[in-house]
Amino acid sequence: MRVLGIETSCDDTSVALYDSERGVAANLLSSQVDLHGVFGGVVPELASRAHLVNLLPMVDLLMKQQQLRLADLDGVAVTAGPGLLGALLVGLSTAKAICFAADLPLVGVHHLEGHILANALTAELVLPATVLIVSGGHTEVVHMPEVGVYERLGGTLDDAAGEAFDKTAKLLGLPYPGGPHIDAAAKRGTPGRFRFPRPLLADQRTVFSFSGLKTAVRTVVEELPRPLDEQTIADVCYEAQEAIADVLCHRLFQAARRKHARAVYVAGGVAANGRLRERVAAEAARRGLHFVPPERVYCTDNAAMIAYAGWCHLAAGRRDALNLDSFARAPLASWREGSPS
Ligand SMILES: Nc1ncnc2c1ncn2[C@@H]1O[C@H](COP(=O)(O)OP(=O)(O)OP(=O)(O)O)[C@@H](O)[C@H]1O
Ligand SMILES: [Mg+2]
Repeated sequence: MRVLGIETSCDDTSVALYDSERGVAANLLSSQVDLHGVFGGVVPELASRAHLVNLLPMVDLLMKQQQLRLADLDGVAVTAGPGLLGALLVGLSTAKAICFAADLPLVGVHHLEGHILANALTAELVLPATVLIVSGGHTEVVHMPEVGVYERLGGTLDDAAGEAFDKTAKLLGLPYPGGPHIDAAAKRGTPGRFRFPRPLLADQRTVFSFSGLKTAVRTVVEELPRPLDEQTIADVCYEAQEAIADVLCHRLFQAARRKHARAVYVAGGVAANGRLRERVAAEAARRGLHFVPPERVYCTDNAAMIAYAGWCHLAAGRRDALNLDSFARAPLASWREGSPS
């Protein structure tokens, strides 16, 4: 079965082909980082316009590279939400038009399900699993007894982990998005020079809070002599990353223990973070839990994860009508019947 995937929920235009016999046959990405970088964050209207310019030529390119016609596809999967509405609508309208023209089944995919199932593109999933979703807009822990059955255990009370990375980077004068820059700079950091809080670490609930960390970093950085030297930047990055990784790791394993999971997974852009992956791998090994970190290309937004998720829906006999709507926000819901835990 061949499924075309389309992802336009934020600032990356991506199209991919998932072939159930070959795996991910193509995963094309057009990043808008340069477009939004000068503004220090994503400008929704610019994102929609860039998707509009890029999407159809990318679909054309993929089909030519793969020597396929629309009739060779078995379905089209598209991110229906959550995300920026204007940006989502470009992808959704394009997917609908292709499905209408070629009489193909349409599947709307929840973006967070895409991030979770991206793990299946790296290694076969071991279930039941507890998943930490950490991205630019989300920080949540979800339990997955099987594909299509999701139980949200909790999430952030304020900022997402990705925002904590991006805001820390901004305070240090690092480029947008800041996560990868902090990841790189922290490798040269000195442990122990700074100390930031680990909010809610002792809390028994599955909750996170990152706004206090941002304030703590700002307070420290504002008192440092200007211009900031490279070593100081690396030292702040080191401690900020440690603080974020500490709370993320702690919560993930607390939840996994309660749910008697066999495996843990990380998903979303922040799952590309080297220190977080290292910490989760070490703790999983210590507790005898299965963990394989997802390939980094499948952590940040990509259409391969959407195509794969779409294939899971289609293989289970699910499809959407052509009046499917996009949504800016909505929790990840189960689409398969089954006990959530
Ligand atoms: N190596 C890294 N270390 C830490 N953070 C990272 C790393 N690479 C990317 N990020 C962060 O990941 C985020 C982007 O992730 P992703 O593309 O999944 O987010 P999004 O799609 O914008 O948000 P959402 O998925 O919640 O809608 C950014 O905040 C970025 O700084
Ligand atoms: Mg995302």
